[in-house]
Amino acid sequence: MIVEKIKTGIEGLDKILRGGLRKNSSILITGAPGTGKTIMTLQFIYYGAKKYNENGIFIATEEALDDLRGFAKNLGMDLEDMEKKGKIFLIEKPLAMLRGGLGSIRGLLDLIKKKNIKRVALDSMIFFEYLYPKINHNILEYRRQVLMFMHKMKQAGVTFMTVSERKVTDLDRLEYDMNDFVFEGFIILSRIRKGSYFERVITVAKVRGQDHSLDVYPVTIDKGGLRVLEDQVPFSLVEQEQRKMQFK
Ligand SMILES: Nc1ncnc2c1ncn2[C@@H]1O[C@H](COP(=O)(O)OP(=O)(O)OP(=O)(O)O)[C@@H](O)[C@H]1O
Ligand SMILES: [Mg+2]
Repeated sequence: MIVEKIKTGIEGLDKILRGGLRKNSSILITGAPGTGKTIMTLQFIYYGAKKYNENGIFIATEEALDDLRGFAKNLGMDLEDMEKKGKIFLIEKPLAMLRGGLGSIRGLLDLIKKKNIKRVALDSMIFFEYLYPKINHNILEYRRQVLMFMHKMKQAGVTFMTVSERKVTDLDRLEYDMNDFVFEGFIILSRIRKGSYFERVITVAKVRGQDHSLDVYPVTIDKGGLRVLEDQVPFSLVEQEQRKMQFK
């Protein structure tokens, strides 16, 4: 079977993913605060529309849309331009809007259909915790709701990227969360200490049904946005290994 892949729009990441993400898959990005989760999902939507002609929806639960637009502009993404062209749609405060439960997901599905949406990003999974507060106590039911949402995205022909927060992102001591098992793809953003500063890194932990690299790569965030240096090894890791060798 030939796996149809789409480019994420995040420089370097597509090489690690050996060509991109499987079309219609659901990907979870996880990491500590400030590791670049929001930037990554914004790039997925913005460059998806701009470079690959795939219309997208970005659902923001925590940041105001105007803040996001300004934030994105500093990273080289003119969201407003793509919004004016009807290629991306930013949705704010869905927590309040979607209190109606599944009925309002129907609203999202209508928008997907009407605007020929191919990518949806949700920042963050907190959304589900608000949407199904009681269910939150019942882990299996919560999981069922997340799976149902993923299924609906797949049925609608959408590739879905979302974000979850994590307290510990030390790659050697990572504790897995239920969401990590539910999603088809799981990408970890982290920081590794190198002397007096931290180095940003990324690793693709899993993508069901496709080949990918398991290595840890350095990441940079600057005016050009988030980039994965797919041809480099994190200095911090090299030094850690060297130190271990010295003590042997
Ligand atoms: N214009 C910029 N130039 C350089 N670095 C930037 C720029 N904009 C943001 N950053 C870096 O990106 C980080 C924030 O990225 P982002 O908001 O995507 O993180 P996050 O993982 O979503 O965080 P949170 O969990 O708090 O939502 C900032 O801490 C900052 O270090
Ligand atoms: Mg964020």
